[in-house]
Amino acid sequence: MTVQNPYVTGQPARGDDFVGRVRILNRVKKFICDDKTQNFLVIGKRRSGKTSLLKKIQDTHRSDELLILYLNMQKYIASSVETILSEIKRRLIRYCDIPQKVAEKQNFEDFLLSASNYRLRKILILFDEFDVMCKRENIDKTCAATANFAAYWYKLSLFTKNNKIPLKSLFASSFYCLFSDSPSCNQLFKSCRKSTLHPLSKSAVYRILDMGDLKFKNENILNEFFNLTAGNPFFTQVLSHTLFESNSVRQGEPIGIRLLWQCMRKALKAHGYGAAVIWGELSEQEQIILYYISRLSRKKIDATPDAIKNALTKGGFTTTECEIQKHLNKLEKEKFLNSDDLKIYLFSSNFFCEWILYSIKKTDISNNKC
Ligand SMILES: Nc1ncnc2c1ncn2[C@@H]1O[C@H](COP(=O)(O)OP(=O)(O)OP(=O)(O)O)[C@@H](O)[C@H]1O
Ligand SMILES: [Mg+2]
Repeated sequence: MTVQNPYVTGQPARGDDFVGRVRILNRVKKFICDDKTQNFLVIGKRRSGKTSLLKKIQDTHRSDELLILYLNMQKYIASSVETILSEIKRRLIRYCDIPQKVAEKQNFEDFLLSASNYRLRKILILFDEFDVMCKRENIDKTCAATANFAAYWYKLSLFTKNNKIPLKSLFASSFYCLFSDSPSCNQLFKSCRKSTLHPLSKSAVYRILDMGDLKFKNENILNEFFNLTAGNPFFTQVLSHTLFESNSVRQGEPIGIRLLWQCMRKALKAHGYGAAVIWGELSEQEQIILYYISRLSRKKIDATPDAIKNALTKGGFTTTECEIQKHLNKLEKEKFLNSDDLKIYLFSSNFFCEWILYSIKKTDISNNKC
């Protein structure tokens, strides 16, 4: 009999797979009901569960009175404000009963104003990955209209407030950063009610383990599991996944702390999760190099500069050794990679360490905060 691995890493948690987050969900519920507040900001480190939370909000609050739209802003990184607005308009027309003469209005504000006379439903727009709108490099791009979206949306929120248009926005971002030279982004962020996504509580982590049937009988092991993942939902899934894959768990042998540690190391090193989560922030060449290093390590081939060059050539990418070395040096300097004396490159657990430091600093993880 083959047993399917119940731990899925990478996908946002939906339905019964979603655990915890009671406090923040209550705050969002209040925000939805409160007519005075228009904007809400969820700040959460990479892989802390932002998308899962947004999907949960969408699944919980969708009703005849409330229309919820979900937009991943990563998709619109090179788009103009007009493109984003027409996408929002297109979806509003699709889900609301809006007369043709209103749908034809070109100006977005005019359109909203007229539409609000016909539509009784409130609108909540969930903007995921909103940080891409506020990053320095995006602001500097010639298609800086994207960055201007934050500015536009701030002005729009003033307009909708003055005209009593029932439109609310919830932004998910991995940082709360104010730019001295981009007051528009700042204004939008400042206007928001804010909540931070903390590590999952112990009980939430145990529920994830229980769901996958990965039962730890020993309380010390449970605590160790929680310490290792520091309540990060992603690392919880990754460690559970690796443990499940390991033979000893499948054969029902007791899980010792040593095995737990071995699996954690395996999960962090072999799969390059640290790099995977910050993928979008790397240059195209860096992404390609990291991709090939992860392929080599999966095949248990030492990722030396030579092996990397061969793998790249086989994959159809021509580049010089010097060029590769330049990228490797940069990636190593930025701690995405480690190398040993033999110049074998490995993914580093930088992201994980960062998370641990963050969790210890921000919350008392033994305090069962969620
Ligand atoms: N509340 C939760 N319950 C169970 N699993 C969760 C929960 N939140 C997140 N996860 C798991 O953690 C991982 C990361 O979740 P998610 O993609 O929602 O994070 P994110 O903050 O949006 O990440 P990114 O910064 O990459 O956009 C996924 O594998 C998901 O299944
Ligand atoms: Mg996400």
